Amino acid sequence: MSFRARHLLGIEPLKPEAIRTILDLSEQYVALNRATHKTSDVLAGLTQINMFFENSTRTQASFEIAGKRLGADVMNMAMQASSIKKGETLIDTALTLNAMHPDLLVVRHPHSGAVNLLAEKVNCAVLNAGDGRHEHPTQALLDALTIRRAKGRIQRLTVAICGDIAHSRVARSNILLLGKMENRVRLIGPPTLIPARAADLGVEVYGDMKEGLEGADVVMMLRLQKERMDGGFIPSEREYYHRFGLDAEKLAHAKEDAIVMHPGPMNRGVEIDGTLADDINRSVIQEQVEMGVAVRMAAMELLARNLREARAAGDGTYV
Ligand code: NCD
Repeated sequence: MSFRARHLLGIEPLKPEAIRTILDLSEQYVALNRATHKTSDVLAGLTQINMFFENSTRTQASFEIAGKRLGADVMNMAMQASSIKKGETLIDTALTLNAMHPDLLVVRHPHSGAVNLLAEKVNCAVLNAGDGRHEHPTQALLDALTIRRAKGRIQRLTVAICGDIAHSRVARSNILLLGKMENRVRLIGPPTLIPARAADLGVEVYGDMKEGLEGADVVMMLRLQKERMDGGFIPSEREYYHRFGLDAEKLAHAKEDAIVMHPGPMNRGVEIDGTLADDINRSVIQEQVEMGVAVRMAAMELLARNLREARAAGDGTYV
């Protein structure tokens, strides 16, 4: 077992063996999730609290289902209705919840670094469900599992990540994971949406879809993250779709068997053609959602195992 961490805050600290351990365990959960009887007692007796300070459909539902299938007591905090609205700080909210002895805290927050800060203040395991433009580790892991199942491997592939990379935690976590597993990563987008220090990330940068997609095995499309833009980053959505929106014609430049991915939520006709997104011969978007539940079950099982071992060994910080 090579996943010994206390929290899952990002891909950055993970070694390739730890990534492989999570993906291998996830495969078992893919099978369980497809069975009629979907529950186990791996997290029985444990309390999981989901704190989403930002809107979420897929990620929150997926963490909730994952916890319930593993037998945890799962609580979704309605953050819109919480004391945060009355001026309580993130840390005070965390300490209040901590006093109720949760075992797993799943946190999404609009500020980069907020989840790491919170993890320092609590005695349980923390899973980052997306913090600002920093990291979204379970998304990168579910993407890796989807790629590995479609391509038979998660090494030596050419992966094109296209669109709003500058504002995307999904892109950042994916770049880190794919790099650790020795893949070739290309970023494609207008210069305004490519991070300033992209060259330091060990990736190739393209400003033209046709050139960037040439020979790609995987094409990952991203949403324009308007909520994180403080001004005009693109001339118009029509112009953006024309140059960077993925359609069958642009996809023809990638490998013949290239797969199309999107983390959702998807804006049809802005970054991707709706018909292509629904084409089950090319698009693995629904598989990504399916893999999301399995990966979160695996991550929570591994963290719970570490937590139980630490408590059994008398680690007082873990009470
Ligand atoms: C992404 C997110 O929230 O970071 N969605 C997701 O978790 N599936 C991407 C996005 O918001 O565009």
